[in-house]
Amino acid sequence: MARTDPHSHFDDLQPRATRWHLRLLVDFPGRTLGGEATLIFPRPAAGVLDLDTRDLAIHRAWISATGAAVPFELGPEEPILGRRLRLHLPADTHGVTIAYETAPSAPGLQWLEPAQTEGGRHPFLFSQCQAIHARSLAPCQDSAVARVAYDAEVTVPEGLAAVMSAGPMGDEPGPMPGTRVFRFRMPQPIPSYLLALAVGELESRDLSPRSRVWAEPATVDRAAWEFAGVEEMILKAEGLFGPYDWERYDMLVLPPAFPYGGMENPRMTFLTPTLLAGDRSLVDVVAHELAHSWTGNLVTNATAEHFWLNEGFTVWAERRILRAIHGDEACAVAWAIGQNALDESLERFRDEPQLTLLRTHLDGVDPDDAFSSIPYEKGARLVAVLEQAVGEPAFQDFLRAYMQRFRFTSITTEQFCAFTEERFPGLLRRVDADRWLNGPGMPANAPVFRSGQLDRITALARAWDQGARPGADQVEAWSPSELLVYLQNLPRAMAAGDCAWLDRELGLTARGNYELLVEWLCIAAASDYAPVFGRIREVLLRVGRMKYLRPLYAALGRHAATRELAREVFAQAAAGYHPLSRRIVQAELGKYPDQDV
Ligand code: BES
Ligand code: ZN
Repeated sequence: MARTDPHSHFDDLQPRATRWHLRLLVDFPGRTLGGEATLIFPRPAAGVLDLDTRDLAIHRAWISATGAAVPFELGPEEPILGRRLRLHLPADTHGVTIAYETAPSAPGLQWLEPAQTEGGRHPFLFSQCQAIHARSLAPCQDSAVARVAYDAEVTVPEGLAAVMSAGPMGDEPGPMPGTRVFRFRMPQPIPSYLLALAVGELESRDLSPRSRVWAEPATVDRAAWEFAGVEEMILKAEGLFGPYDWERYDMLVLPPAFPYGGMENPRMTFLTPTLLAGDRSLVDVVAHELAHSWTGNLVTNATAEHFWLNEGFTVWAERRILRAIHGDEACAVAWAIGQNALDESLERFRDEPQLTLLRTHLDGVDPDDAFSSIPYEKGARLVAVLEQAVGEPAFQDFLRAYMQRFRFTSITTEQFCAFTEERFPGLLRRVDADRWLNGPGMPANAPVFRSGQLDRITALARAWDQGARPGADQVEAWSPSELLVYLQNLPRAMAAGDCAWLDRELGLTARGNYELLVEWLCIAAASDYAPVFGRIREVLLRVGRMKYLRPLYAALGRHAATRELAREVFAQAAAGYHPLSRRIVQAELGKYPDQDV
């Protein structure tokens, strides 16, 4: 073989670094990381070494042990891949060090102004490397099969703290006055997309002997309350998959600009503050990121084409954890909410059915553009079908064996299938796995998750136009997730009087649960319901989570007044959005019609 990943210059015939040593200086005014990355080889290496880079200035490269210069060439910019950095290693190279600097535009980093933080006094920096943005933080073999352990020293302004996807190894005054150095060590081999760094004014609270939560001082106590149940989740997950292998499970609550709900950075899950609903109703995201400690971080997709192995298994596991803690009914509701997301993604990719396969083919496709609920929800349904076919106890044994067999490796769908065939001969054929993996849309044997309560809520919502309304007692008895199912099944556009009724009876505009709030605001936006425009503006100016920005901006596209609102808010908000968020909003605005629809 040679190149194995459509999104990386990694070449498996070349030397493979198995350890990094990173020295980084965080420059907030310049919005750069200046640094040195040392790539260490398990055996003496020689010859050509191709690395991935994006927006990096490469200053020098040398043999770590001797300081002898290493010749290199930086290739031309390629649209998805970035620029190839080709090093020519002399014989017997144990380690090579590269001095470099990141760009303010690095897509893997977001630099926040103090005004974008809760405290408002200090700037904030965070990374988001999945799928292929690690290369904008450091030159590396940025493919999930090239796993690395790492250690790092990060110099930050005094008064700020750094956290990484690694164990903390202490901090001390830095080399320059007014700085502090934080040291880290990740002893287990991880894929490059799990490299993570955040810097800001941070405090932490212990939640259990192996878990703590980090956040800005103004948020940290709320975060500690919201996520107090994390140890129970870890215990449930261990019951499913075997012992937790990463020592600590810590979490970081980021400022609201964070573009995702959560990111499973090992030892330090990153979370959006929109999870802080005040009633623990959104902690399924923590269950999800925690489950990635096995499905994703221990057993990893080889490339973005096998992303369903990460996300499908993790959604399935998240719902198993939820079922163990909250029971069957709550679990059925979660599957129903997932079905809604799946239906939306299938609709969005109606003209790109190749993106609805589980095993995708992404040559020439940016993984950020292929992102959708399909690997998550279609993937989780395939896992459920496999489980139903063999029964829960046998599937549990299978999962444990799967984890054992592939731990700390990065695998393809084909490797997964070979292992499954070995354990359960004929199973894949029986469930028509080929259709699931390589066919578009949903196969006929897709499981349907229903319950009496779900059916009642759905029927009530769908009868809205016939005048059906929930009674106050009924609404009172619904969980936040049940209320979400209700809202998701309401008509998209309503009369102003109906909007007013909904908001009054269900208290929607004041909700702390962002899933509910945004679902409501989408209905209101699509209904041209002016009383909530102020709240829509607030949300769009504050929150960078793509899951909310995309549908809200889309819903604002239906009427002239809301389109104007959207364009005006975007003009104001764009500079504070993550580059990914900015891109998807621009795409939504680009779809706006000229006339009302
Ligand atoms: N690993 C993903 C986030 C991700 C995927 C970032 C691909 C970049 C590229 C994370 O585990 C995730 O799935 N987050 C979800 C939450 C989850 C409960 C479905 C999110 O951010 O909404
Ligand atoms: Zn995930």
